[in-house]
Amino acid sequence: MRFDVLTLFPGMFAGPLNESILKRAIQAGVINVVLHDIRAYATDRHRTTDDAPYGGGAGMVMKPEPLAACIRAVLSMAPETEESPKPPVILMTPDGEPFTQRIAAELATYPRLVLVCGRYEGVDERVREALIDREISIGDYVLTGGELAAMVIIDAVARLVPGVIDAESIADESFSDGLLEYPQYTRPAVWEGRAVPPVLVSGHHGEVAQWRRRERLRRTLERRPDLLARAALTETDRAYLRTLGWNDPTVGEGAEHSAATKS
Ligand code: ADE
Repeated sequence: MRFDVLTLFPGMFAGPLNESILKRAIQAGVINVVLHDIRAYATDRHRTTDDAPYGGGAGMVMKPEPLAACIRAVLSMAPETEESPKPPVILMTPDGEPFTQRIAAELATYPRLVLVCGRYEGVDERVREALIDREISIGDYVLTGGELAAMVIIDAVARLVPGVIDAESIADESFSDGLLEYPQYTRPAVWEGRAVPPVLVSGHHGEVAQWRRRERLRRTLERRPDLLARAALTETDRAYLRTLGWNDPTVGEGAEHSAATKS
């Protein structure tokens, strides 16, 4: 999978791409990250990429011409084919659609993504209208620019690309089915007086699986009850959650209550 990243600060990407799993995936040729310096597409003597906003106000806005030229050049670098249609051009911006594991999985199905890093004051709206297909935010806070957001997206998407990490680690993890992860332990069996839960050393695979499922349910109820409304829950899951005090929205009073709160 290929990621084209358009940025005013290509140097920011050196660290994350040169360590650990991403480094290995790049070396193995499973993913390819191509950095493009937007400043190289500015045509004036000072290579200007931003300007003051029309109407006044603080900060600077990214000029349309260099950014548009950069996007168009990048799109023309790998011509569209049937196997590789036009890649989505995605702008990193705090007013974009909130990034989730579901979006990461969707993006991982493309052979190529074009990620545009805006500076936080903004990108000229006309470039957004003309050339941006999708806008993504990595959370409700404001970064100095889209670079860290692009790195988050590359990291979350790359690890879902077949061959980057083993499939098993992805299947069980937080969010893949709408639940948080179960607690993990490794040796020693007792650390500073704290023992590993006995079921994990019992050798009973069925009991381990049940304990893990219940821990996931308990954790999700405690920390992110909002996720339970959308999680894939079995009747056994629901029964267990009810023993923990969960107000099952599909049962009796809970159903009436949720109907009442909606009206
Ligand atoms: N640029 C600045 N803040 C951002 C955010 N939260 N997500 C994506 N891009 C950004």
